[in-house]
Amino acid sequence: MATTGKWIGSARRAAYAKINLYLDVLSRRTDGFHELLTVMHSISLCDDVQVEWAEASETKITLSVLGARLPHDAKNLAYRAAELFLSTTGQQATLHITLRKRIPVAAGLAGGSSDAAAVLRAMQTLSPVAVEEETLLGMGLMLGSDVPFCLVGGTQICRGRGERMQPLACGAPLFIVVAKGREHVSTARAFANMDTYFHNFDGSVAHGGQPHELYRAMAAGKLHMASAAIYNAFEPVVLPSCPAASALRRQLLNCGAYAACMSGSGPSVFGLFSTQGQARRAAAAIGRYAFLAVSAPAIK
Ligand code: C5P
Repeated sequence: MATTGKWIGSARRAAYAKINLYLDVLSRRTDGFHELLTVMHSISLCDDVQVEWAEASETKITLSVLGARLPHDAKNLAYRAAELFLSTTGQQATLHITLRKRIPVAAGLAGGSSDAAAVLRAMQTLSPVAVEEETLLGMGLMLGSDVPFCLVGGTQICRGRGERMQPLACGAPLFIVVAKGREHVSTARAFANMDTYFHNFDGSVAHGGQPHELYRAMAAGKLHMASAAIYNAFEPVVLPSCPAASALRRQLLNCGAYAACMSGSGPSVFGLFSTQGQARRAAAAIGRYAFLAVSAPAIK
């Protein structure tokens, strides 16, 4: 990185994708967001994020993206994370961010949120000004609903927009295949369609989740015994207009997954397998739309 200021350093972070093992939308709030109950689970599918930092009297941020066509400016959440970190801590810097993308984009896997969280964590490590955990989580929520989870990772029961987190023990690692075709889903549109489908959450349309069964089975390392508890309320709203995702979901079950479900507001789907060998064979059968993964540990 070409700079005239004092070199502070460089930090690298893995930015892990997440899947939602459980996702229910409970109500629509007056601030335009929706109240959620969800179980988020970090998986080993990840982007690599590097931040290089030099002192400067005026802030200049540059961003390189490898492996995907994404904006290089403030339209990219990773860029906005760097700006927010500097403005919140009252610092100026020359920053260069490099994203090596592997997580499919606009897929319900929190790829963009995870990149932003990794930028915040890298900057927390490099920053000459100390930043408290709570301040970092606050910055995360300003950037997006999934960013606080991505700052913490592991398996968390999440409420509110996702920022009220409670760790959930994961008794055994999960063997996962994520599949994502060519379809794209806008999160905002998916939430708006939820309002219509669930009659503005007036209670007249039944939801299907059994979260406590999921918590118990997860803690006991026996998720395969509670496959019916794996649930995403977005499925009936999003999947009818995503035939490729619906087909991939069926294919995961045909390949021996004990459960298959959509992640987030879609359209990526995931299958859970009893063994790594089964997962590997399923990923090979599905081909280029499949990503093999296992559970990833919590970051902090
Ligand atoms: O927070 P994030 O930027 O990911 O949200 C994108 C959009 O999704 C929001 O503008 C909102 O329309 C919708 N959303 C919601 N309730 C949530 C999360 C997101 O309505 N809990």
